[in-house]
Amino acid sequence: MDLYEHQARQLFEEHGILVPRAEVTDSPREAREIARRLGGRVVVKAQVKTGGRGKAGGVKLAADPAAAELTARQILGMDIKGHTVGRVLLAQPVDIESEFYVSYVLDRAAGRFLAIASAEGGTEIEEVAASRPEAVARIHIDPAEGVTSAKAAEIAEAAGLPPRTVDVLVRLWEVLVREDAVLVEVNPLVLTGQGQILALDGKVTLDDNARFRQERWGAEGVAHEDPLEAAAAAKGLNYVKLDGEVGIIGNGAGLVMSTLDVVAGCGARPANFLDIGGGASAQIMADGLSVILSDPAVKSVFVNVFGGITACDAVADGIVQALETVRLTKPLVVRLDGNNAARGRAILDEHAHPLVQQATTMDGAARRAAQLATTA
Ligand SMILES: Nc1ncnc2c1ncn2[C@@H]1O[C@H](COP(=O)(O)OP(=O)(O)O)[C@@H](O)[C@H]1O
Ligand SMILES: [Mg+2]
Repeated sequence: MDLYEHQARQLFEEHGILVPRAEVTDSPREAREIARRLGGRVVVKAQVKTGGRGKAGGVKLAADPAAAELTARQILGMDIKGHTVGRVLLAQPVDIESEFYVSYVLDRAAGRFLAIASAEGGTEIEEVAASRPEAVARIHIDPAEGVTSAKAAEIAEAAGLPPRTVDVLVRLWEVLVREDAVLVEVNPLVLTGQGQILALDGKVTLDDNARFRQERWGAEGVAHEDPLEAAAAAKGLNYVKLDGEVGIIGNGAGLVMSTLDVVAGCGARPANFLDIGGGASAQIMADGLSVILSDPAVKSVFVNVFGGITACDAVADGIVQALETVRLTKPLVVRLDGNNAARGRAILDEHAHPLVQQATTMDGAARRAAQLATTA
C-alpha cells in the first residue's frame, strides 16, 4: 500500500527527519486559515498517490492566505494522471540551496535492499538515470546489517551528497524497517540556505503482508483505490479489477489465471480476476455476479468451473439461486467440467434462463464470451 505524502511526512517526522511545517485539508476556506497559521506564504500541494504533481500543476506557491484559498480551490478536484485530488497539503516554503534524491527499495531479484541516491534531485530520477546514469549511485544494502553510519557515508559519498545527509540516510532506513516499508523515497531532499537538510516530498510503500501490525493506518490503510475492489473486499471476495470487458468467475486461482489468458487469446480483454474458491456457495456466486455486473465496462460474463470436492451440480444450484437474487443484465457463458458436470449442465438447461448459455470446453466458452463482449 502506498501512503500519501502527508502520511509519509508524518513518519519522517516521527523518526527525526526534518520536514517543513505543514497541514492538510479538503477545504479551501480552511486552507486560508492554515496559510495564516503558517505565516502567509505557503506551497499548496495536491495529495494524490502519484508522482510528477509539480509538472501537472498540482504543486503551487501561494503568496498569502487569500491566494492559498484560491489555489487550494483550483487544485482540489483536479485530475492528476487519473487520480482526483481530494485533499491538499499546505507547507511552509523552504529556501532551497540544492535538491537531492534518495530512496531505499526492496530489490527482490538481489534479495537485498537497494539505495538509490543522486545529487541531482527534484526532477524525476528515471530522467536523470536515462540522461546521466553516472549521476545516480546505486548501492546494495544487506538487510541484516542495514544502513549504519558507515554505510550511509558510503552512499552519500558515492552520490555526491553533503556529509550532513548521513544522519538523514540512517533515519530513513529506520523508517523503512520500523514501519514495514518496501520503499521509502525522498525527492527532493534539500539543503536549505540555512544549512539544514529537509525532506520536501516523500513516498512510502508499506508491505501489505505486514498490514496486521500496521493498524495505525486504520480504514484508510486498507482502503482500496478502486470502488469495485472495495465492494468485493467488503464481501470477502478475491477480486482484482482489470481493464477489459469480459467478466470472469472461476474456482481456483490457477484456473482463473488461465481463463484470463484464454479470453485474451480470443481477442477480448478480461474485466477482472475473481476466484470464488472451493466452496462456490450460492451466496458467493451471487456476491461475485453482483460485483461484476456493476462494472459498466463488462459486456459478458464467463463462469469457468472445474468441479472437484464441490461438484458441478452444487455450483449449478449456486448459479440458479444466485440468479434469483441478482438480476442478470448481461449474457453469461458457463462452462462446467469435472465432477458431476453432466448433472450440473442439466440443472442449468432446465432453468433455461434466456441470458445463460453453456459451452462444454474452456476454449469454446472463452470464444463465445469474447464474441458476445466484442459485438455487444
Ligand atoms: N515546501 C516547499 N518549499 C519550497 N519548494 C517546494 C516545497 N515543496 C515542494 N517544493 C518544490 O516543488 C517541487 C515539486 O514538489 P514535490 O513535492 O517534489 O512534488 P512532485 O514530486 O510530485 O512533483 C520540488 O522539487 C520543490 O522544488
Ligand atoms: Mg517530488
